[in-house]
Amino acid sequence: MLVDSAIKTIVDRQYDIANGTINSLPLPKHKKYTICNLRGGIGKSTLSFNLTYLANKILAVDTCPQGNLSYFFDDNYFTSNVNVRDMILPYIVPGLGRATRIAHRISATNHFFTNESFYVPSDEQLYLLPAQMTTAVNQTSGLPSPQREQALESILLSLKNEIDRELAELELETCLIDTSPFFSGATHLAWHATDALIVPVRTDQQSINSLNLIFKVLSDPASEFRRHLPSDFPTPKIQMVVLTHCGWSTVRNARNIPNQQTVIYLKMLKDLVSRNISHFTTDDPDNHIALLDDFLGSGRISSALSKPIQLLEAGDTMRINRVKVSVNDSVAKCKKQLEFISNSIW
Ligand SMILES: Nc1ncnc2c1ncn2[C@@H]1O[C@H](COP(=O)(O)OP(=O)(O)OP(=O)(O)O)[C@@H](O)[C@H]1O
Ligand SMILES: [Mg+2]
Repeated sequence: MLVDSAIKTIVDRQYDIANGTINSLPLPKHKKYTICNLRGGIGKSTLSFNLTYLANKILAVDTCPQGNLSYFFDDNYFTSNVNVRDMILPYIVPGLGRATRIAHRISATNHFFTNESFYVPSDEQLYLLPAQMTTAVNQTSGLPSPQREQALESILLSLKNEIDRELAELELETCLIDTSPFFSGATHLAWHATDALIVPVRTDQQSINSLNLIFKVLSDPASEFRRHLPSDFPTPKIQMVVLTHCGWSTVRNARNIPNQQTVIYLKMLKDLVSRNISHFTTDDPDNHIALLDDFLGSGRISSALSKPIQLLEAGDTMRINRVKVSVNDSVAKCKKQLEFISNSIW
């Protein structure tokens, strides 16, 4: 079976990634990335967790009220007395003092991490942030220029300024922000805080549609992101789209052939990325699409133990809800794919 020429470069690369003969994509490197797509359950937090493990001296910031990334780092993260909300609220609610040293050392609560990395926990009260931000932004409308623009900028760059302060105080080199599936509130602030976006897309129509929505929000002057800003205000570019939950042909002797579902969505993705290449950090679509195989049992065990995929070995087993779950041989390929993504962004 021949692979469609439009996706051949990306598919062929998977073989080299699995064999360790290609290390990374030729992309410009950035310091701060936001992992984002406006759809749930596609792999944002899983990717954030595993990329954090592969980095050193990184600050991982959880801006999703569900707190899944925080939970990976600390089962009791919600008992933290300072969290990401303390980075944002003082810029929105008058009279609140600013906190410092909000980040927590990951190795203190997750023993699989031994390096110099930190995270900022989430807060379920972030569900209220969109309404709080709308009120604060509306209040600026009564101010004369240039106070209005200054007040607006202070709100929109709140998370950016606080992340930059934590990075400097802790002498950290890189930052990864996990977001919720919704734009209003913390995701909006994360877009202003980041150098570039990483967009996971699952092999389904809805996540392709969500990527399309991101292009619109980034470029439409009337969008929630753009409408408060001067037209020349910088907007983040997309470094990489990661097609998650990919599967491969199980036909005997089929080597490096994606299954039908993967082919369908990879072709759609390549077409969509090509048509919107101005939103990316280079002008070659093949540079911006990475594949990540379905983690299967490895994903379930990784989540259950808060253990990075990198530390799982084929044959590992555990019982989850009384059902035996195992790590299969494909974990070796998933590890290489994650390393490839990590090497291509930092
Ligand atoms: N290749 C893959 N990449 C990422 N996640 C995968 C992959 N294969 C399987 N999974 C599983 O898919 C699920 C993704 O859930 P995750 O919480 O990361 O999504 P999310 O986008 O953060 O969701 P939400 O929007 O609700 O925060 C996890 O159970 C993970 O183990
Ligand atoms: Mg999540």
